Amino acid sequence: MDAALFSTRYRVRLLSPEEAPQVAALCRGNPLFYRYCPPFVTEERVLADMRALPPGKQAEDKYYAGFFDGDRLIAVLDLILGYPDESAAFVGFFMTDASIQNRGIGSSIIGELCRTLKEAGYREARLGWVKGNPQSARFWRRNGFRETGASYETDGYTVVIARRDL
Ligand SMILES: CC(C)(COP(=O)(O)OP(=O)(O)OC[C@H]1O[C@@H](n2cnc3c(N)ncnc32)[C@H](O)[C@@H]1OP(=O)(O)O)[C@@H](O)C(=O)NCCC(=O)NCCS
Repeated sequence: MDAALFSTRYRVRLLSPEEAPQVAALCRGNPLFYRYCPPFVTEERVLADMRALPPGKQAEDKYYAGFFDGDRLIAVLDLILGYPDESAAFVGFFMTDASIQNRGIGSSIIGELCRTLKEAGYREARLGWVKGNPQSARFWRRNGFRETGASYETDGYTVVIARRDL
């Protein structure tokens, strides 16, 4: 799938390692996220996230993508297609620039992404949020995601697994 299909409103493309500084700058504007999901962002961690793959998946399944309004990066999405099973898409990370938040932009991006994934034949979307982070849980619930009841402990915090039908 071409990442450009993820949005009709924004230009979407895969981000390159050279763009890690811009991604880190966007991330630094969201300190609440890193209070629940430490350590705080660095360019090195962005580079590692750009390369990270879940078990059994290949680089072509992964979309570490930027959403651009003109030339301006306004959102970052880490999406894995066909994980944890072939009919699912997994959102590993989604963040909008702090300066454009609370205007419905994040929800519109996720809504359109889910419609596109459905048209491509995927039947469910999955993700995890850090237990206790009010911003993440509220955002995903508002966008139709519900806790599966599963969770796991990692690096001193708990990740709650959530899903929605597409
Ligand atoms: C969570 C996050 C992606 C939301 O992005 P956003 O662009 O602000 O998303 P939205 O504007 O769609 O929703 C945020 C709020 O705006 C409100 N909103 C939605 N549409 C709106 C509109 N048209 N006008 C004004 N406000 C609106 C929503 O009600 C929501 O508020 P609430 O949840 O307190 O009720 C963003 O805050 C973020 O990047 N946070 C840090 C990273 C993170 O937590 N990511 C998710 C876990 S991976």
